[in-house]
Amino acid sequence: MAYEKRPESMERITTPALANAFIEAEIANVQKQVGDKKVLLALSGGVDSSVVAALLIKAIGKQLICVHVNHGLMRKNESENVIEVFKNGLDANLIYVDATDRFLNLLAGVADPESKRKIIGKEFIEVFADEARKLEDVEFLAQGTIYPDILESIKQAEGKKAVKSHHNVGGLPEDLKFSLVEPLKFLYKDEVRVVGEALGLPHAMVYRQPFPGPGLGVRCLGAITRDRLAALREADAILRDEFDKCGLAERVWQYFVVIPDIKSVGVKDDSRYEGWPAILRAVNTKDAMTASIEPIPYDVLAKITDRITSEVEGINRVLYDITPKPTGTIEWE
Ligand code: XMP
Repeated sequence: MAYEKRPESMERITTPALANAFIEAEIANVQKQVGDKKVLLALSGGVDSSVVAALLIKAIGKQLICVHVNHGLMRKNESENVIEVFKNGLDANLIYVDATDRFLNLLAGVADPESKRKIIGKEFIEVFADEARKLEDVEFLAQGTIYPDILESIKQAEGKKAVKSHHNVGGLPEDLKFSLVEPLKFLYKDEVRVVGEALGLPHAMVYRQPFPGPGLGVRCLGAITRDRLAALREADAILRDEFDKCGLAERVWQYFVVIPDIKSVGVKDDSRYEGWPAILRAVNTKDAMTASIEPIPYDVLAKITDRITSEVEGINRVLYDITPKPTGTIEWE
């Protein structure tokens, strides 16, 4: 497959004025491309799909149908936030699908990381396709493809091997044939953010740290159970809250909690208390190929440890992973 290259004449979008010019041009392009037809978009709430959604709402309003699939592996309040911003804020045509049970039932007992990734990726497409089949007159599929995705595809087409099978919305089943709408396909991430801010999306959404497609599924190590997943979601929310409060959130590229499938002996209220450890990870990187550790100040570590062990059911220890990439990948699975 041939991939289009970014035109050399294209100016880097670094200012609101350049972003507005890009937005105006893309609105005209999209209107011309889709006419009065409907466009479907899988809206995860990540930066790219959110910016595409906001742009297309401006261009074609309710002709855009956004589908937000909650696979049960989202972070705390993430799906609620998507509904708040897009349905309540931008009056989007948004279909919310709570597919938690579908995903967690399929994942029950599956411990192998690549099998988990494949199940999540495949099921995501099936849930999305089920929704697409219920709709009539949809001719287009919008995607938040950005230029680094195209560069990555070129690399893979040249036979370079990936370390992990990253999942993003991939090929849909044969019976669903759409033409693609990819307004961000020549933009780098920093440009997408400038465009997102110019579109009026909340700063926290536009500067959201990367979150893997399989979500908390690759941070709840081994076979996922609902109780450990719930503990992970709460512990992760505490880490994010404390990073927001001390200003680390602005400085650190990616930070999160991982919970392995092991328990250790602890003590609580004078009784034996077996619990999982929560592992903290905070890394900085330019391109995610290598990563360095962001030192978390001791007082912040102590506060996070105190809060997680006292507020989260099932966790009795907090560990801090200081391994750079390589040898550790950023995610644990
Ligand atoms: P690793 O763990 O390979 O991660 O060092 C590098 C970056 O990629 C993110 N990641 C994903 N992103 N779909 C994504 O869109 C995925 O399946 C996926 N898996 C990992 C990871 O969070 C890190 O930022």
